[in-house]
Amino acid sequence: MSRHNLLNTALRLLTVLVASLVIVMLAGTSPPITPEKISGIDRYLQFDDFIFCGAQPKNELALDELKKRGIKTIICVDGTQPQVAAIQEREMNVMHVPLGYGITTSEQRMQLAAALHLAGHESPIYIHCHHGYHRSGAAAAIASIATGRLTHQQALDRMKRSGTSPAYHGLWKSVRDTKRLELHVIEALKPPPTALPAMGMVASMLKAEELMDQLDPAKPEKWEAQDAAQLADVFRQLRQNAMIESSPASFASQMTHTFELANALETRLASKNKHDDLMAIRNRLAMSCQACHASHRN
Ligand code: HEC
Repeated sequence: MSRHNLLNTALRLLTVLVASLVIVMLAGTSPPITPEKISGIDRYLQFDDFIFCGAQPKNELALDELKKRGIKTIICVDGTQPQVAAIQEREMNVMHVPLGYGITTSEQRMQLAAALHLAGHESPIYIHCHHGYHRSGAAAAIASIATGRLTHQQALDRMKRSGTSPAYHGLWKSVRDTKRLELHVIEALKPPPTALPAMGMVASMLKAEELMDQLDPAKPEKWEAQDAAQLADVFRQLRQNAMIESSPASFASQMTHTFELANALETRLASKNKHDDLMAIRNRLAMSCQACHASHRN
């Protein structure tokens, strides 16, 4: 073989090597998990063999659909109470472990582990939050790590592929910090309730004030999507509060207005698309608090 041919062969070999490397690297980044829209549930996806994640079941048809799909246990991680009676009527179990958008407490992580353990190892489970993007994926990851079903790497990979936004730093950190628990520890845990009572008006308002303080107008660079998300959640849940139904319509619409502003702030903070209208939304949000207090607080 001439020197020229040798060089050519070597070059060709190198090309093949580089191409294979690129293929291996591409294969290493697993594709996103595609969510489905099913009857009464906007986002439904498979997290692992037996864990399904997604959005809140909107009605009884959604519960029928889950039952048809073989779901045996529903774990709700949203603040709004699950439809306990309707779920139990369909012979499914239900547990409620409400999560925020920030760092989870060790109590919450233990409750998630207890819920997954009680649901059983080879029994289909549906874990849902409100929209089915962030908290349900994080909850599935935490429970899977704590009970030893998945490694940190597997759980983080599935959470990423199922659409949890990187903007919710607290949720990601909570998953990374989750420790695998010994079986005897899990077995000794208190079972989660079927439904925790919703936060009352005063507790919600105090939470809203704390979150508004986090969104300090003097330090916009420190604003976190998770605080705006939590704020939107407080008002979304208040709207479903029975008390609202007995209040004047203006009260409910002001609640909705505040919710929408907090939601707009969250969306922009989570999209990393830092618009300069963030401060304007924050100002309108503060005015919406004052407006309602002026007309409805005695
Ligand atoms: C739709 C009406 C409405 C909106 C919107 C609203 N509030 Fe309130 N807020 C109330 C009412 C009514 C009370 C009195 C509750 C009570 O004492 O039972 C209250 C009370 C409070 C309190 C006092 C709680 C206590 O008793 O210690 C704080 C703090 C507060 N709100 C903060 C906020 C913040 C911050 C926002 C906006 C992000 C906000 N509120 C938006 C209706 C509203």
